[in-house]
Amino acid sequence: MNEIAKLMNLYQHAPLTTRLHVRGRWQLFPFPALAEYLPGKGVLLDIGCGHGLWAFYAALLRPDCVVWGVDPDEEKTAIAQGIARAQGWERVHFVAGLAAQAELPSADRISLIDVLYLIPHLEQERLLESAVARLNQGGKLLLKEMSQYPRWKFAWNWLEEWLAVRVMGITFGKHFYFRTEQDWQQLLQNLGLKVKIVYLDQGYLHPHILFVGEKV
Ligand SMILES: C[S@@+](CC[C@H](N)C(=O)[O-])C[C@H]1O[C@@H](n2cnc3c(N)ncnc32)[C@H](O)[C@@H]1O
Repeated sequence: MNEIAKLMNLYQHAPLTTRLHVRGRWQLFPFPALAEYLPGKGVLLDIGCGHGLWAFYAALLRPDCVVWGVDPDEEKTAIAQGIARAQGWERVHFVAGLAAQAELPSADRISLIDVLYLIPHLEQERLLESAVARLNQGGKLLLKEMSQYPRWKFAWNWLEEWLAVRVMGITFGKHFYFRTEQDWQQLLQNLGLKVKIVYLDQGYLHPHILFVGEKV
C-alpha cells in the first residue's frame, strides 16, 4: 500500500463527512511538495491541525519524527487522537485548545497550514510570536497561506472559504484576515526568521504559497 492509500485508510472508521473532507483536502492541497520541508527526525508541531491529515502524512513519511497537532476544534482533534491511539502510535499526539495556552513541546518544524487567515491580525502576530519562541534553533516555521495572485485563484479561494466558514460552518471562525505576500514576509522577518517564499500553486486551483522561516 502506498503512503496515500495508508493515509486515507487511517480514516476508515471516521464519520463520512470527515472521510470526504480529508479526501477532498488531499486532492486540493500540495501536501507532497510541503513534505520536502520535513526534517528527517525531531519534533513537528502542527498548529491548527484540523483532522490531522498533514500530521499523519508526516508521521507516515518520517518514522523517526515525533508529531504533535493542536487545534481549538475538539471534535476534529478527538477524531485524530482516536486514530493515533487505534494505530498504537505513541509518537503522535493531538491536543484540543489554542497553541499559545496548550502544553506543547519545543519543535524543529512548526507548521501553520491555512490557519492564520481565520484569526484577527493582532492575534496572528501573537500566535506567530509564540510559535517562533517554541521553535528550536535552526528549526523552520512552515507558514502556508494563500497568495492574492493570480486574482482568479484568489477569488475562487475566497468564495470557497466563505461557503465553508459562513454557510456550512465547517471551519472555526467567521471572518477572513488575509495579508499580502510582502506583509507575511515582513512579519516573519521581524520575528528574526530568514524567509524563503515557495509558490506551490502550479497544477492546483488555489494560490498556495509557502513561507519557510528559518530560525538562524
Ligand atoms: C482551513 S482549516 C485547516 C486545517 C489543517 N491545517 C489542514 O491544512 O487541513 C483551519 C483550522 O484552523 C483552526 N483554527 C482556527 N483558529 C485557530 C487558532 N486560533 N489557533 C489554532 N488553530 C485555529 C480551525 O479549527 C481549523 O481546524
